[in-house]
Amino acid sequence: MANTVTLSDAQVERLREALAAADYRIDATLAAIGEAGQADLARNHTVAAERALAGRDDPLATLIRLFILQLPQPAAAVQRTLPARDLLAAGLLTPAASPTGGPALAAAVDLRPYGGDDGVNGWLVSDHQATLNTARGRPRPDHVLGCSPASVTLAQLTPRTPVGSALDLGTGCGIQALHLARHCARLTATDLNPRALELARLSLALSGVTADLRPGSLYEPVAGESFDLIVTNPPFVIAPPRADADRLVYREGAEAADGLMRRVVAESGRHLADGGHLVVLGNWAHVRGEPWEERVAGWLPPGADAIAVQREVLDAPEYAEVWLADAGLQGTPDYRAELDRWLAYFDALGLERVGLGWLVLRQSRRADPSVTALDWPYPVTQPVAADLIATLDAVDAARLPDAALAAARWRLAADAYQETTSEPGAADPLNVRLRRRVGLQRWTDVDAALGGVLGACDGELPLGALVAAVASLTGDDPAALAARLLPQLRRLVAESWLVRVV
Ligand SMILES: C[S@@+](CC[C@H](N)C(=O)[O-])C[C@H]1O[C@@H](n2cnc3c(N)ncnc32)[C@H](O)[C@@H]1O
Repeated sequence: MANTVTLSDAQVERLREALAAADYRIDATLAAIGEAGQADLARNHTVAAERALAGRDDPLATLIRLFILQLPQPAAAVQRTLPARDLLAAGLLTPAASPTGGPALAAAVDLRPYGGDDGVNGWLVSDHQATLNTARGRPRPDHVLGCSPASVTLAQLTPRTPVGSALDLGTGCGIQALHLARHCARLTATDLNPRALELARLSLALSGVTADLRPGSLYEPVAGESFDLIVTNPPFVIAPPRADADRLVYREGAEAADGLMRRVVAESGRHLADGGHLVVLGNWAHVRGEPWEERVAGWLPPGADAIAVQREVLDAPEYAEVWLADAGLQGTPDYRAELDRWLAYFDALGLERVGLGWLVLRQSRRADPSVTALDWPYPVTQPVAADLIATLDAVDAARLPDAALAAARWRLAADAYQETTSEPGAADPLNVRLRRRVGLQRWTDVDAALGGVLGACDGELPLGALVAAVASLTGDDPAALAARLLPQLRRLVAESWLVRVV
């Protein structure tokens, strides 16, 4: 494929019209592939999808086979469906050998419909998925990632409140930019890889989104500028060093260990407006003798409140194996030597395991910032963004002096529900647990007094009055009960179970 994907505005419009005319949209595409086909594709196999499309030569089937399944299609079918001459000239289509004979065309890129509950409804242009069974060869160093599970997770971690300005750092195919464009007035997207910017430009143009696209590394392209929201799914893979020309730029940085993650987080402080957020997902090293929480907290810019959520921890060999497979090395003669090289590098770093997780920080400019680090391998309800933001919103309330905490009125989170465990036939429960339905799906065990206070938190009476009322029912000394419950209630405020009513 040519390095520059140049389509004029008119050519983009012709392509968009052709895609729309074929109903190459999410619903129709998923329906055509079928559930088994989708699941098979998620396992990197095209066979079930090919079978679902068997016998069809309509435009939608042609587009799915061409762009998603990476299968060359008869030239006549492609010409009926797309402005093929434009796409051949731009290097987006190439002549190919047809398995059935006759002239055929192959797609040099993946182009697929993309959308979300937030109203995003467009197309993404990226490189073909290198792990698919139809892939031709390993990913090139300037491979442009498509919609990956990490991309989707980042989209769900990102708060969608309207903002003035947003930065999509390392935009790749432009997926985060499509979402950000829905709720920000000024959108900037950057990438170190010029090819990523070319493909992002096409994704955005096809999807009717405007952004300021800038080449360059990390925050260099936005020197001196600040944003209300920065989102990034950076190249976070911890891998042995490679020459710049050989590095898989979509996943590996030039810094040692998790140094690129550290820079993304630490340098965000200079580019966040007051109250602005950085949302990032990635990996951190578990290095001998250093708790992961301390390592990640050490990256935070001064004054920032943060919540870090560790979702998974892999030991060093498992981590290396995952990423060697991602690069298409599994089953190749190079595999064993590469694995040795990765593990020797990890040994030299003192790296024993790798954490995978999320970090959301707010530039609060607080003298004594709040940092929450959670090991949270449990199921969550996506999108989880609102829950993480609620934790940052709760910092001031959770620091109120006892008297102010007791004088304030609070409402229990609307999604909280109670679960009891009892011996069969017993009148009294063995355990009472409150659970949340949304976000992190937190839970907390409560005794009768705490449960009574929380159940009464409907925003009407001050907390202190509720504690006193419960004390009169249980026969507890009110002051003693308040002294026992207030620290627990403070923790529940910090975890956003209780929201202050003003
Ligand atoms: C994992 S991909 C994420 C792409 C997309 N934002 C997403 O959410 O799927 C990382 C992107 O960061 C880009 N990148 C790599 N190193 C970078 C750097 N130093 N500065 C800016 N972007 C970089 C890569 O080219 C790639 O497009």
